[in-house]
Amino acid sequence: MGRDPRSAQYLEALGIESWVLRRPAQSLQAASPPVVNPPLVAPLSPSVVKPQLVEARQARVPAAAADWQALAAEVAACVRCALHKGRTQTVFGVGDRQAELLVIGEAPGAEEDRQGEPFVGRSGQLLNSMLFAARLPRASVYIANIIKCRPPDNRDPLPEEARCCMPYLHRQIDLLGPILMLAVGRIAAQTLLATDTPIGKLRGAVHRFGTRATPLIVTYHPAYLLRSPREKRRAWDDLRFVRAELLRRRTAARGGSA
Ligand code: URA
Repeated sequence: MGRDPRSAQYLEALGIESWVLRRPAQSLQAASPPVVNPPLVAPLSPSVVKPQLVEARQARVPAAAADWQALAAEVAACVRCALHKGRTQTVFGVGDRQAELLVIGEAPGAEEDRQGEPFVGRSGQLLNSMLFAARLPRASVYIANIIKCRPPDNRDPLPEEARCCMPYLHRQIDLLGPILMLAVGRIAAQTLLATDTPIGKLRGAVHRFGTRATPLIVTYHPAYLLRSPREKRRAWDDLRFVRAELLRRRTAARGGSA
């Protein structure tokens, strides 16, 4: 079975030298260049929908664009903590507002502060590669950070800054209604899960977040992977886990036995 040359290129960027599909190609989505809004979960047929899934589907009714705009405007004007003094602009979030997967990072860096978009620097390039190799291209997911303004000198956000900013992320999650969240990095993982547990121990499990108990998976931050390339293989395992969980939930939503 031939490997898509673009996948090979991205896997190489991850440091994965040989990767063999274990399932027939037709059971997986074909790798393709980033496409806007590729549907990962197909529309549900009412005849096969279980009652609890009707509830889940109703929760995913797309939010009005006006609600997103109002929230983005509120974030852009935010002065809740001192970080607003040093920002060029807020970094709200980007991606498909009907995405099933919400990727959550820590806080904007210099490039994100300049461009107003999360994960557009070196870390972002690696994150894009990881997502693309897992056939979850950037345009098909939504990406946001815990903190919407750049902390000075790229220091870790303070707990007080996270406390001020988290309500915005909660509202983004309410608007998006993701079926799965991916926390990238220690700060995002520990903040979302309100724990001090090391990231290595949080990986490999499906956690739950918030009042909707949204499933949440944890992986390493791409900035850490750039410093510690040997961990890329673990991050790749995490991304495959994310994809498998999404597909499993799709099968379950269709009344399958996953
Ligand atoms: N690191 C993050 O956690 N988020 C960004 O947006 C950029 C770098």
